[in-house]
Amino acid sequence: MSYYASDLLTGRVALITGAGTGLGRRMAERMAGVGARIALVGRRADKLGEVARAIEAAGGAAAAFPADVRDVAQVQAAVDGVVARFGRLDILVNNAAGNFLCPAEKLSPNGWNAVINIVLNGTFFFSRAAFPHLAKDGGSILNILAAYAWLAGPGTVHSASAKAGVLAMTRALAVEWAPHRIRVNAISPGPIHTEGTDKNLWSAAPDLEARIIRQVPLRRLGTADEVADAALFLSSDLARWITGQVLPVDGGHWLGNGVYDWNPARGTAAT
Ligand code: HXC
Repeated sequence: MSYYASDLLTGRVALITGAGTGLGRRMAERMAGVGARIALVGRRADKLGEVARAIEAAGGAAAAFPADVRDVAQVQAAVDGVVARFGRLDILVNNAAGNFLCPAEKLSPNGWNAVINIVLNGTFFFSRAAFPHLAKDGGSILNILAAYAWLAGPGTVHSASAKAGVLAMTRALAVEWAPHRIRVNAISPGPIHTEGTDKNLWSAAPDLEARIIRQVPLRRLGTADEVADAALFLSSDLARWITGQVLPVDGGHWLGNGVYDWNPARGTAAT
């Protein structure tokens, strides 16, 4: 099902990092489905090739540009390759992330650096390299956050610090690059089902998924499609007067259920 006109992004070129799996793949497929030509960036050429073939089989246009977002030279080469191939660049989605839960006092400097380099530095490197192309015709940058960028979460000091930096970057670049007609926004996805989260997260404890669902006012996990729909909106002209904003797509998760976890419409606590 599509809620958007099939030509919403026709003529646009979208570069998506971390596009080989999960949310990145879904955003790539959805943007291709409404006319964008897609540049798929990630470390694993085989995964990117799979996504490119799926998009082309569905009638879209996509090409793979393998790169590690931590490596400035690879980032520049990917952006140059996209522009050589497609002639332009209109939309950048900084989706690549690295994450694992680890107590702060046990986190090694390398572990800290790995996550900061992927999430914070990778987002800046790609934004910087994309700038001259996005500035040509007005463009859009979309960053992917997590609510612990402004809340808190044990075991996430590296990722939370990196995402908080990306939140600041979203606002700083929105203002700085507005004269170039580049909009910069972010999405903060809540708990969703993807192949990765099903394998690595929801299976970690037998009742974990049920417990999380009770924390979500809309009482279910989300889907990658629901995040991709919001990404389409913010990356398109439908959001042409929106910049520097963060849109949580999370069923109300970050707001919680209220201090007493009691809701007259539900009758009892935590049902
Ligand atoms: C403690 C760990 C660790 C773990 C890695 N490290 N995993 N420390 N617990 N589970 C440490 C290593 O020991 C090493 O430090 C350092 O991190 C670098 O590890 P490498 O494996 O050498 O790094 P690399 O191959 O570059 O991998 C980067 C990575 C990896 C971040 C560690 O997980 C990765 O590439 N992930 C990409 C995919 C991903 O994570 N996606 C999740 C995004 S989801 P030492 O000191 O030993 O050398 C997301 C939202 C989730 O972000 C929301 C959850 C609520």
